[in-house]
Amino acid sequence: MDTAYLDGQYLPLAEARVPVLDRGYLFADGVYEVMPVYAGRIFALDAHLDRLEFSLNAIQLPNPLTHLSWREILEGLVTRNGGGEQMLYLQVSRGVQPKRGFALPENPTPCVLAFCQPLPPVSAFIKEKGVSTVTRADTRWLNCHIKSIALLGSVLLSHEALQAGCNEVILLRDGYLTEGGSSNVFVVKSGVVITPPKSRLILAGITRDLVIESLPAAGIQLQERAVTEAELRQAGEIWITSSTREIYPVTTLDGEPVGDGRPGSQWAKAFDLFQACKARG
Ligand code: PDD
Repeated sequence: MDTAYLDGQYLPLAEARVPVLDRGYLFADGVYEVMPVYAGRIFALDAHLDRLEFSLNAIQLPNPLTHLSWREILEGLVTRNGGGEQMLYLQVSRGVQPKRGFALPENPTPCVLAFCQPLPPVSAFIKEKGVSTVTRADTRWLNCHIKSIALLGSVLLSHEALQAGCNEVILLRDGYLTEGGSSNVFVVKSGVVITPPKSRLILAGITRDLVIESLPAAGIQLQERAVTEAELRQAGEIWITSSTREIYPVTTLDGEPVGDGRPGSQWAKAFDLFQACKARG
């Protein structure tokens, strides 16, 4: 997976270079997407391109490409990298500006980058044992609905989770659950699945949407509503969802077992529904 796409051409990733005056480098002025590729097909591509469009609008940067061009470029990249299972990353930054300045340039030349990396499947170990998490105060900015490349807040919080031997940090703001460091969070209470509603405080996850859509067909009740810290701590099950992790069952939170400390029955159903969703493409 060593082929990248940079501003109109495919080239070896190791040779891809961006000028230091790129606003992505100087200001983290850009947005990104991460998409899973299953059996050589980009999963939920349209939903990701729609969210990219949303993020670009939110930072007042015109989309440099049409959806059709994006599709052609990304599919070309996946093919060049051998198809199969991949994680596809793309980012659009506001490009080079000759003189560093906070003001947005009037006619920016965005820099478009995409590359692929391996996407490991959800392991048998995770399906059997689940993952550990820690909670932290959500100290990120107040525009978490934008998929911004300014990720230092999440990077530092995620690092604390890793240092504690955990897979993910679960974030709390003013006594309420927001999301994970790089995932959305679901809790299960008396069999009902609950996840915080979309707002500026969380990323509108594509996996989250697909999970929400799939549950009613299996007769599982779903509520999009605020989740208190107490509800999180007393949840029978906790799941985290993302494009790179599908749906992980969380079995410990701050060192305490979640429910009976094993992946739950509702998670197993949601996981199977998601596999069916993947198979449909
Ligand atoms: N992160 N919330 C945050 C803060 C995220 O960074 C992500 C994904 C999600 C889940 O969104 P989706 O289901 O669309 O992947 C929620 C990606 C995987 C990343 O930055 O690597």
